[in-house]
Amino acid sequence: MMKKISVLFWLLLSMLAFAGCGSSRFAENNSTNLPSEEIDDNSIVVGFSQLGAESDWRSANTDSMKEAFSAKNGYSLVFKDGQQKQSNQITAVRTFIQQDVDYIVLAPVTESGWDSVLEEAKEAGIPVILVDRMVAVSDKSLYNCWVGSDFELEGKKVCEWLNQYAIAHGIAAKDLHIVDLQGTLGSTAQIGRSRGLNEAAIKHGWDIMALAEADFTQARGREVMASMLRTYSNINVVYCENDNEAIGAIMALESAGYTVGSDILNGEVMVLSFDGINEEALGYAKEGKIACIGECNPMHGARVAGMIEQIEKGESINKFNYVEERIFSALPDVTEITVDGTTYSITVPE
Ligand code: AHR
Repeated sequence: MMKKISVLFWLLLSMLAFAGCGSSRFAENNSTNLPSEEIDDNSIVVGFSQLGAESDWRSANTDSMKEAFSAKNGYSLVFKDGQQKQSNQITAVRTFIQQDVDYIVLAPVTESGWDSVLEEAKEAGIPVILVDRMVAVSDKSLYNCWVGSDFELEGKKVCEWLNQYAIAHGIAAKDLHIVDLQGTLGSTAQIGRSRGLNEAAIKHGWDIMALAEADFTQARGREVMASMLRTYSNINVVYCENDNEAIGAIMALESAGYTVGSDILNGEVMVLSFDGINEEALGYAKEGKIACIGECNPMHGARVAGMIEQIEKGESINKFNYVEERIFSALPDVTEITVDGTTYSITVPE
C-alpha cells in the first residue's frame, strides 16, 4: 500500500510552513524532508525515528538505514533525529502517523513511555518495526518486530573475558577495583550491559566501586572518569558501556597521569568497552590499550528492509531478531570464553 499522495500533501504543507517560518525551521527539527521529486509512485514510505547522534555506532546505524531505504531500493525515507529526547521521538512518530507513512521504524532512546504513541500507530494501521533498543510495553502487539543486539550477553561476554584474564594472571577477585561508566540510563543497551557486569560481580565477588551515567558520549566519558579519579585512587578496571565513553575515559586517565593497559598488578588501569565500530577504539584495542571490546553490530538497515519485504509479501516474521556479535581482544592470554553454555572465540582486531 503506497501512501505517496498524503506524503506529498504533507510535503507541500511543510514547504509552505518553511516559507512562512524562516529558514531555520527544518534545521531545528533536524529532519530530512523529502523533495517531492524523490517520491516515487511505487516507493514504500518509511518514517524512521533515530534517537540521536551520540556515538560513532549511532552514525554507522543511521548510514546503514539511509542506505537501505534509498530511492534506488524503492523507498522514500522520512528521517528524524530525536536528539536524545524521547519527547522528540514521540512527536516524530505522531508526525509519521499524520503523514500516513507505510512503515514506522523506531530506534527508541529509552524503554519506558511508549504505550500511548504506539497505540496511536496501531489504531492508524501502520506497522512498527523496532531497531536497536527495545520498548517496555505490556502489549507486545503494539509493534510488529524488533532487531538488535543481546546487550546483556555482550556484557556477560566482556565480564567472562575479564574473569578468564584474571585467572590467567593470578589476579584475585579482591584485587579488582571496577567502575562502570554507564550508557543512557533506562536504555536497553545500558540495562543489559550494567546487568551483565552486576551479575558477574556477584558471581565472582568483584568490587564495583562506583557507577555513573556517561550517556554513551566521549565528552561525558571523560568528565565522569575525571570525577571518579578525584574520588577514588585505586580504580584498576574501567567498564565503559561504549567505545566513545572509553575514548573519553582514556583521555581523563592519561591526563591524570595513569597508564592505561592490562598490567593491573603493576598499577595500570584496564579499559573494557563495547561496539567495535570506531576506528580509534579499534586502534586502541590493537595496541592493548582497550583490553577487550564486546562487539555491537549497527548495520541493521538491510535487516529492517528484509522485514518490510516479508511483511509486504504477507509472510510471518520473528518477533525478536538478535544479531550475532564477536568479542575483540589483542591480548594473547584468553583465546575463547564460554557464556551460558556457548563458547565464543576471541577475535584479534586487525
Ligand atoms: O544501543 C546501542 C548503543 O547505543 C551503542 O553501544 C552505543 O554506542 C550507542 O550510542
